[in-house]
Amino acid sequence: MREISRREAMETMLLASAGLTLTTVINAEAQAPAAPKAFAGQHQPRPLPFDPTRLKGISEKLIKSHWENNYSGAVNALNVVEQRLVTMLGDKDLPAYVYGDLKREELVRTGSVVLHEHYFANLGGDGKPVGDVLNAIKQAFVSYDQWEAEFKRTGNALGGGSGWVIFAHNLHTGELHTYWSWDHMHNAPAGLPLLVLDMYEHAYHMDYGAAAAKYVDAFMQNVNWEEVNRRYMNAQKAVAALKA
Ligand SMILES: [Fe+2]
Repeated sequence: MREISRREAMETMLLASAGLTLTTVINAEAQAPAAPKAFAGQHQPRPLPFDPTRLKGISEKLIKSHWENNYSGAVNALNVVEQRLVTMLGDKDLPAYVYGDLKREELVRTGSVVLHEHYFANLGGDGKPVGDVLNAIKQAFVSYDQWEAEFKRTGNALGGGSGWVIFAHNLHTGELHTYWSWDHMHNAPAGLPLLVLDMYEHAYHMDYGAAAAKYVDAFMQNVNWEEVNRRYMNAQKAVAALKA
């Protein structure tokens, strides 16, 4: 028989004082469901990829507030939701409709996190379109100006309300389209975002009040088209892979 270590002896003494045996604890651990990786709740906010003092027509104060309160708040909320879902998974008596409430919240927060990360990452540029995505826009919309007019009109249509404008490469239809999105959950299926515009009031009210159209104009001056083009090239790879 092997000799027990000092640590094992201490653990056995502590368990005995709690009225438990080592076998009881080992069995309990073996029966507990493993925490699914999908519900780890360990998302971290991505830092701003540009200097917030250098945007044209969008203040540092607004961008910092947006990043800290709305975006980071959504990341934190998603973590809480995922961790609560794990707890609920272990409750076999929980009504499905109660579980459904939190599943809805999971979708809301996931949409907010993903779209905000696209939004901030497509800011910080000079607003001048470049690359293959520009050629693709011209093919689909006749001219860049016509595409831009439609993109801005979609944004203005959401002024005073809330939502997102998502210029996307639809992996199912193979087309480029600008989609109107009423909230974080409202997306065209298979639409891979290329350029994302936040039309929630928190994205502009501090600088422009209710003048949403002025914010849309300012946004266009700060688009990072190199990032948009990078997403477009990745979308092309995805389309090719789906066809293979
Ligand atoms: Fe936002």
